[in-house]
This record gives sequence, C-alpha cells and structure tokens, in this order.
Amino acid sequence: MTDDEFQGLYGAPPDGLSPAAPGAIQFSPLMPGAAALEAQAPNSLAGFVMLAPPGTIERRYAAALGLQALAAGAPFTILAPKDRGGSRLAAELEALGCIVQDQAKRHHRICTGVRPATLVGLDEALAEGGPRQVDGLWSQPGVFSWDRLDPGSALLAQHLPALAGRGADFGCGIGTLALAALASPKLTHLALLDIDRRAVEAAKRNVTDPRVTVRWADVRQPDATLTKLDFVVMNPPFHDGGAEDRSLGQTFIRRAAESLRTGGRLWLTANRHLPYEAVLKPLFKRITPVVEASGYKVYEAQK
Ligand SMILES: C[S@@+](CC[C@H](N)C(=O)[O-])C[C@H]1O[C@@H](n2cnc3c(N)ncnc32)[C@H](O)[C@@H]1O
Repeated sequence: MTDDEFQGLYGAPPDGLSPAAPGAIQFSPLMPGAAALEAQAPNSLAGFVMLAPPGTIERRYAAALGLQALAAGAPFTILAPKDRGGSRLAAELEALGCIVQDQAKRHHRICTGVRPATLVGLDEALAEGGPRQVDGLWSQPGVFSWDRLDPGSALLAQHLPALAGRGADFGCGIGTLALAALASPKLTHLALLDIDRRAVEAAKRNVTDPRVTVRWADVRQPDATLTKLDFVVMNPPFHDGGAEDRSLGQTFIRRAAESLRTGGRLWLTANRHLPYEAVLKPLFKRITPVVEASGYKVYEAQK
C-alpha cells in the first residue's frame, strides 16, 4: 500500500452516519494508541472521516490538521452533533477554504467535500489550537478545563495532606493535582494516567519530577502495575464523548479501590450533585467528607 492510499478516521462517528474505509488510521487523541494527526505528513491521506470535537478552537484545529494531512482533491466527511458544533461546521470549513455539501441527519450535520488545492487560515487555526502555556502550565484547547484551574481540583489541592509512598493520579489532566501531591517529600512514586494524549503530553512537560511516570491510558482497563498503592488522588471525569456519564466516575472509584492496599487512601473531589457516596460505601472501610465549598466536595476514603 502506498502512502496516498491511507485513509484517516478521527473519533467514532455514530453507526450509519459516515462509514470510514476499512483499515483507516485512527487519529483521535482520546483513543490510547491512536496515531497523532500532528505527525501525519501533509498531503498523505487519500480520504478522511472525522467526528469533529465539541470545542470551537479544538474543532477548527482538528479540521485544519485533517485537511492538511489530506491529499489535494481527496474527499473528506466531517460531522458533528447539531448542538455540539454541527450547526457551525460548514461555515468553519468554508473559512478554511473548502467548498462543502452540508447535510442534516439524525441530529448531526454532515459536511462533505474534497481538499482544496489551497487552504486558507491554516497557520492561525493550528497556532490557536496547539499546545500553549496558561498561567505557567502547558495546556491545549480541548483538554479538561484547559484555560482555567478547575475549582474542584483547586479545592482538593488545597486539602491534600502530605502523601507518602506509592500512588496514582487517575485522569491526571495537565498535572494539576500531581503537582500538589508531589509537594510531599515522603511520596516515592506517582503514576499519572489520562485518556487524552494532549493532556498527557502537557503533563509530561508540566510534571518533570523524577518520581513520576505519565501514561496515555484508559483507567477503565485493568492495569497490573497499579496494585497495593498507598494512595490515589482524582477528580474523576463525568463526561464521556461530551455527554454526562456518571458511571465513568463510578468506575474510576472501583479501579481506585482495586489498586489500593488495605489501609490505602483515596482522595477524591467531585461536584456536589454527583452520586459517588453509594459507590464508595461498600468498597471502603471509612469515608470522611473533608470539605465542601463552591459546589464541590472532597472525600478521603480509606480501604
Ligand atoms: C475532571 S478531569 C480532571 C483532570 C485533572 N486531574 C485536574 O484535576 O485538572 C478528568 C480527567 O480524566 C480524563 N479521563 C476521562 N476518561 C478517562 C479514562 N477512561 N481513563 C483515563 N482518563 C480519563 C479526562 O481526559 C480528564 O483529563
């Protein structure tokens, strides 16, 4: 297969809306192991299907990268739910120099076209959506709370005790909680895990302490290296693919319980409305609500 026969896929479009070519290369930064669209040679793909991400800057960036990777004249299909960027998608692609057909189907807008010989505003879209520093930390549009410190994380960071031994930060984002945890000299090792490659790359730049390892991984998958931990810290996600998904945070809590030694502690911050107590109860010996402020609450749970 020559390079120009490769097809690209970004994300998982709903069944039947836009089938990608079999064997297409997956580029979603939210799928551990996927290829990086940033690293794909320009003009190298023979076709491209993208479920465009919800954030405006992130979507323009992903579309610009996809178009840049596509060979001139090669076809693309870029789609998004109507209420998560779909209604603006055609205009955004036109602003990048494309002529698009815009079709409405099952609450999505589906834009098709071919890659024009000349793209417009590519450099701006790539610069705006690429990694950048915010308040001294590396971040990127699209990662969790990319341009401001999340109040729930801030609350947990303020109340973390001096942690000791081996631990993990589940869903580490750009490394905010890890930096707070690493203030303790008794901490010997901290494993940072996140499903978002962009967050992992930012965390690697932000958290350079030799006691850490940073991994692009799905916390829902069992991990034999994470056992008998002394502590886990987390601000669990409650969205999956843009939709609220409470079971994701509940799975994070179960994984934490499985990873801790008896007596090990979970430090958790969450929106007050999220129903995590019922999940914590059967898994932990002692659950202590530590603080509640500005709509968030912090728990310490001992296994
Ligand atoms: C609420 S954010 C917290 C981020 C960071 N700890 C902080 O405090 O700023 C949750 C993080 O979990 C990550 N995440 C979501 N689903 C995940 C999964 N299945 N496995 C690993 N990380 C996941 C998200 O990418 C996001 O960075």
